[in-house]
Amino acid sequence: MIPDDVVERIREEADIVQIIGEHVALKRVGADYRGPCPFHQGTHPNFSVSPKKHLYYCFVCHEHGDVFTFLSKRLGLDWPSAVRLAGEKSGIDVPAADMHRAGPDPRERLWEVTASAAEYFRRMLWDDDGGRVARDYLHSRGIDRETADRFGIGYAPSAIGLMRTYLQTLGFDDARQTEAGLLSQPEEGREQRPRFRGRLIFPIFDAVGHTVGFGGRILGQGDVKYVNSPESSIFAKRRLLYGLNWAKFAIRREERILVVEGYFDVVRLMAAGLESVVAPLGTALTADQAELIARYTKQAFLIYDSDRAGLRATFRTADELLRRSVAVRVVTLPEGEDPDTFVGAHGREELEAQIQLSVDVFERKIQILKNHHWFRDLHNKRRAIDHLLPTIRAAADPILRDLYVTSASEASGVPKSLLWREVGGEVPGPVEERAEAAPVRAPRPTRPRVRRSESRGSDGETGSGPERELVRWLLQAPREVERVAERLGPDTFRDAQLRSIYVVLIGLGAGATPGAVAAALPPAAAAEAAALVAGGVPGADPARAIEDCLAQLRVRDLMDRLAEIDRLVGLGSRDEQRELMSEKIRIMTEVRALRGLGFKTYGKSRLSVRRNDGAP
Ligand code: CTP
Ligand code: MN
Repeated sequence: MIPDDVVERIREEADIVQIIGEHVALKRVGADYRGPCPFHQGTHPNFSVSPKKHLYYCFVCHEHGDVFTFLSKRLGLDWPSAVRLAGEKSGIDVPAADMHRAGPDPRERLWEVTASAAEYFRRMLWDDDGGRVARDYLHSRGIDRETADRFGIGYAPSAIGLMRTYLQTLGFDDARQTEAGLLSQPEEGREQRPRFRGRLIFPIFDAVGHTVGFGGRILGQGDVKYVNSPESSIFAKRRLLYGLNWAKFAIRREERILVVEGYFDVVRLMAAGLESVVAPLGTALTADQAELIARYTKQAFLIYDSDRAGLRATFRTADELLRRSVAVRVVTLPEGEDPDTFVGAHGREELEAQIQLSVDVFERKIQILKNHHWFRDLHNKRRAIDHLLPTIRAAADPILRDLYVTSASEASGVPKSLLWREVGGEVPGPVEERAEAAPVRAPRPTRPRVRRSESRGSDGETGSGPERELVRWLLQAPREVERVAERLGPDTFRDAQLRSIYVVLIGLGAGATPGAVAAALPPAAAAEAAALVAGGVPGADPARAIEDCLAQLRVRDLMDRLAEIDRLVGLGSRDEQRELMSEKIRIMTEVRALRGLGFKTYGKSRLSVRRNDGAP
């Protein structure tokens, strides 16, 4: 025998539309789904499935029943097998032993303890003197007695032995209280203590309504804000949603779920009449929780804090839901407000208005990127697209995914076909794609923006080596300045001080004696120039050393441009891509040629550059 509550839970949580939809082509009509009846082989959509009532019905042949009836009739299964199959499809285990063994769910003995404890906490809150401080706290959070009772809110006193003795008189020994997470596992030789002490208690229920655990909030400010039940056979934080047992009917009725962050948000919203609301238990929404939500509705509204942490949680949660084909909209509350405080201050209507103003999570992402000007230049555009890709990939629904690609393409000006390639999924409709590729404004690749480090270069620092050596040689051989100036603009220098010396050198030309250079420079740069001259190597051939430096600077810039091309190549139109690729080949050829000239060191020692045709 399968325990009744397991059967009920499967009936409640099984997605009847999806399960029947595997056998019948269903289309949504209002709150229900319609298709041709598989029982009388109808061709008109007279066969109706109601996800709210968990039933199906044929208006012609009057065949009707629940998900179990459907599976047993369609597949010729006996009833337990139909239950088992529906359970499998809903991710609910029907233990094999239960098929043959009558008796309660093994978790029953723990649910009993937690339910009794919840009742105990509730009484402590209202009937005990010690509960006054908790009553005051609740009041300060805007929660009245009626609301508190509706959610079974309670208070765990600070005293050590009370709860334990009370539960013992009901026949629950220490072992069972411990297993239920109410007593903490004692260390060797120490007394067991209640896990929850001096805290406001939110009982947590599974979707069917069993009391499975507790969340305990400290009264007022303090170190550990919430203590939750430990993981156990009845309490798995990752698979539970606070509020679902109350919200599930409203979620089906309204075809939406509101996801908030905490217990107080759920309680306050429900009390205000917004009933389709749940919260995960202190973690970001898990895959299991997203799966659970997907069984009830395909439309989620996320109402989190609008701070950075809240936004991060929003986007992570959204990706998890999108993977389950749940559409996600983001409700943005004014800075510093959470749903709890917002509904307290402005009421239900205002919050509904905010919900109406919600935007799809993908549009929200794009809004934020736009506000920060991420689509302005190619560099940031690449990064912006990298931010959008995970969400596009997460969208399991092909239509939504296509909309996301379209919207990313519009925001960035990057053709859809290229975005599809980055997404790595199926490219839908190549014909339509080709037709679309033309009118999209693709960004023109810009010249590389030289990243310029304003930091003082030291010999060990990247880029400063050849710059430094070049300036050193020019200081020693000013007659070379003019020739170099024709080939190398000051812009190439990344070190600001070396650049300023180079500018002075160009200005003075062949007349750039160390004294004249120093006189034209601010003190720090003059000192630097003097140090460079002092560190020179007498006797080497300045012309060849300078060629070596120029070659190294050229390779450095070319390598940067190569990296930039690799980042940009996915963003351009087909023509622009072709152009970038041929530029890349030209660069690689030039780099190979320069490297072939064999400079590994510069300046001071071996000088082996003979020729440098490729220099700018
Ligand atoms: N939470 C938790 N452990 C913590 C902090 C938070 O389990 N140390 C969980 C709780 O489920 C809490 C939710 O994360 O409800 C949101 O946290 P927070 O916003 O800090 O708490 P609120 O419920 O908003 O509580 P309050 O409004 O009293 O600050
Ligand atoms: Mn809060």
